[in-house]
Amino acid sequence: MDKTMLKEQVEIIRQAFGYINQFKGETFVIKLEGSLIAHHLFPLLIRDLVLLHRMGINVILVPGARDRINEVLKKYAIKCRTVNGVRVSPPEAIPLIKMAAFDVTNKIMTMLAENGANGVIGNWVRAKSIGVRNGVDFQCSGLVEKVQIDIVNKVLGEGLIPIFPTIGWSAKGRPYNLSSSEIAFSISVELNAAKLFFIADRPGVTAQGYKIPKEVYVSSDGVVSQLTKAQAGEFLDLNARDSYDEQLDLVAYAYRACKGGVQRVHVIDGRVEGMLLKEIFSNRGFGTMIYANQHDNIRPMVMGDVPEVLRLMQPSIEEGVLVHRTETDLAEYIDNYAVYEVDGTIHACAALQVYSGRQAEIAGMVVDETYSNLGIGKRMVSYLIEQATAKKLKAVFVLTTQTSDWFSHMGFSQGKIADLPPERRKNYNRKRNPLILRYKLSRHRTKGSLRVE
Ligand SMILES: CC(C)(COP(=O)(O)OP(=O)(O)OC[C@H]1O[C@@H](n2cnc3c(N)ncnc32)[C@H](O)[C@@H]1OP(=O)(O)O)[C@@H](O)C(=O)NCCC(=O)NCCS
Repeated sequence: MDKTMLKEQVEIIRQAFGYINQFKGETFVIKLEGSLIAHHLFPLLIRDLVLLHRMGINVILVPGARDRINEVLKKYAIKCRTVNGVRVSPPEAIPLIKMAAFDVTNKIMTMLAENGANGVIGNWVRAKSIGVRNGVDFQCSGLVEKVQIDIVNKVLGEGLIPIFPTIGWSAKGRPYNLSSSEIAFSISVELNAAKLFFIADRPGVTAQGYKIPKEVYVSSDGVVSQLTKAQAGEFLDLNARDSYDEQLDLVAYAYRACKGGVQRVHVIDGRVEGMLLKEIFSNRGFGTMIYANQHDNIRPMVMGDVPEVLRLMQPSIEEGVLVHRTETDLAEYIDNYAVYEVDGTIHACAALQVYSGRQAEIAGMVVDETYSNLGIGKRMVSYLIEQATAKKLKAVFVLTTQTSDWFSHMGFSQGKIADLPPERRKNYNRKRNPLILRYKLSRHRTKGSLRVE
């Protein structure tokens, strides 16, 4: 194996270890598109889900059953119409719908068992009728009223994988056909899940045929790589339409989940091998990630912050980790700086200095020691990368003597003096001899985007 390949592999393993630590004990709610079950890679996807479960992640599965239900209804010659993406389920169809939904969950349970994990199918969703809307009586098609979280938590506590059929029962025991997306969304919000996945038969949220909010990048294969909660809301407003649209429906659930407190929603392609693991364990995502704003506490620096920021930088300056800066330096470059503030106190700062050749330097990065290892540093880097991306820059770089590993973990790779913009090359301090770490933003658009959890 050549050295570069080995280095890349080691880097991937390091990134994965970081994420394993981070996600142990967290809950991932996963909706599996029903059509994937027949796909030849589905058994591998189940194997990957079992791996997640084994490493201590609480996995909850909600398989969609639409295809199987359609198949069974067709066999028994029961015709149901669909209104706004919802099947109108007449009472006579319900026994068959139940049978088909449980067929799917049984299949998943069997496949989990084949991989050494135990799944449990349960009746944990209280449902209510959709009722009559715009003159259409949805009959036995329902909505989620409540998820019995206590029981689900107990099941998780026993080391089992809960599997939700797309059926719910009313308080009086009447069964309703439910949407798997709605069930997955409801569980993720009620359980305050770390992640909600829509594993779909699509590459993510695609751009073609939709209006895309400004500053949202689309990969070369036409996939929207990430959307903040606000951008997801904007995407929905820009593309509002009267007729049902499956993609907008998914984005709407993702948006509501983020509003409900879920940090990350991922829409990924279940037809590509290893997509789930790549999405979780590497800094680069390949589907679409919709996320609650992780930059809530980050804002541009103002003059009043300068003394506090200098105080924050002082220990690192004394240690020689940061270059010496004065109040005048900070005031002169105030527009470059961002700070991380909690309850009126600044706990981190960093700057983005733009140079020629569409490159920018990340500099002056410090996190208050008492706030270290909380992911604030990574969030600051992600914030600056977002700014650089919005400015349509080509790459960001950092000159560092002590933190090269930390930046490497985030996908930065080692560069040379020759890579620096000429004006920065001139000021390169050969005596200090810092390492140069670069992050190419063009990759952002072609090979997935930096995902800082
Ligand atoms: C480097 C620094 C910004 C990291 O900030 P942070 O908010 O603590 O970092 P995060 O929480 O995002 O990341 C923490 C992880 O990075 C690791 N890490 C921290 N500093 C590191 C370093 N110098 N080298 C390698 N890894 C490092 C931690 O061990 C932790 O690992 P884990 O997730 O496996 O537990 C902070 O330690 C700091 O201010 N250092 C002094 C100033 C400095 O070095 N600035 C960079 C100049 S270019």
